[in-house]
Amino acid sequence: MGLQHYLQFSDLGADEYAWLFERAAIIKKKFKAYEKYHPLADRTLAMIFEKASTRTRVSFEAGMYQLGGSVVHLTTGDSQLGRAEPIEDSAKVISRMVDLVMIRTYGQDKIERFAAHSRVPVINGLTNEFHPCQILADIFTYLEHRGADAQGRLNPDFLKDKTVAWVGDGNNMANTWLQAAELLGFTVHVSTPSGYEVNQTVAGLRSNDSYKVFKDPMQACQGADLVTTDVWTSMGYEAENEERKKAFADWCVDADMMRMAKPGALFMHCLPAHRGEEVQAEVIDGPQSVVWDEAENRMHVQKALMEYLLLGKVG
Ligand code: CP
Ligand code: NVA
Repeated sequence: MGLQHYLQFSDLGADEYAWLFERAAIIKKKFKAYEKYHPLADRTLAMIFEKASTRTRVSFEAGMYQLGGSVVHLTTGDSQLGRAEPIEDSAKVISRMVDLVMIRTYGQDKIERFAAHSRVPVINGLTNEFHPCQILADIFTYLEHRGADAQGRLNPDFLKDKTVAWVGDGNNMANTWLQAAELLGFTVHVSTPSGYEVNQTVAGLRSNDSYKVFKDPMQACQGADLVTTDVWTSMGYEAENEERKKAFADWCVDADMMRMAKPGALFMHCLPAHRGEEVQAEVIDGPQSVVWDEAENRMHVQKALMEYLLLGKVG
C-alpha cells in the first residue's frame, strides 16, 4: 500500500471500512481481555491540536500506547505552528521524525497542505469541514448495537436501507455523515435552521441522492433508525453563539422527536453535549442513547485505523 492519508471519510472505500470494522472488533476484544497487542512497537504518532479536545486526545494517545507505540503532543500555543511557521515546512520536518500524524485544525485546506508535504500518513482529527474518525466510531457503534450478521460479524451492508436523522447545524459532523451515506449506501434526513444548511460542494458529495432535507426536525426524525445531533456552535464559531442560540431553539432533540423515530432507534452525539440546548437530558441520558459506547469506540476504531494506515491488512 502506498502512502494513505485519512483526511475525509471518502478517502477509504466500502471494502476498507468492512476491514476496519472487523479489525476494530478484534482489537477491542483484546483490550477488554488485557491481551497485549503491540503491532506498532517503536512507532510514533504526532498529535497536533489547534483546537481543544478531550476524546480525540485521550483516544489517540491511549490507543497508540496500547498498540506499543508512543506519542508526541503539540498545540498551536507551544509549537512554532502558532508563530507562523509555514504548514508545509512543519509537515516536512515533523514527518521526518514520526511515523504517523493526527491533526485537529480549522480549514480542511490546512490539513490537505500538511498531507501534501508529509512523508507519513496524516489523519484528520477534526476540521471545520469534516470529522471522519467520529463517524467511523459512530457507524461501528451502530453496527455493534444493531448490525451484526449471523456469524456475529459487523456487516456494513446492514446500513444500506437505514435512515439517519441529522438534527442541527450543517457542520463538520453533518458533512461527514453525508459522505458516509454516499459511500456506504444509507440515507440521511437533514434538518437545519435556515442559514445553516449543508452545502453539497463543501461536503464533497457526488450528488444529493443520499440525503433529504426537512424544514421540520420532527419530520426528519420520522422513521429514523438513528437520531443524532451536535452542538449549536462548533469550535471556531464562538462569535456567533448568541445568534445561533436563537436560530437553533427548535433544533433540540427531545422525547417527542425520539418518538417519531423507529421504536428501536438509537441516539448518538459526538460530545461534548449541552443538555437543554441541542439535546434534552431525557434523551442523552435515556435508554436509546449510546453516547458512552460511541465515545469509547473512538479509541478502538482509531487503533484499527492506525494499524491499517501503517501496516495494511494484517492480522
Ligand atoms: N467528539 C470529539 O471529537 O470530542 P473531543 O472534542 O473531546 O475530542
Ligand atoms: N462540531 C463540533 C464537534 C466537536 C467534537 C465542533 O467542531 O466543535
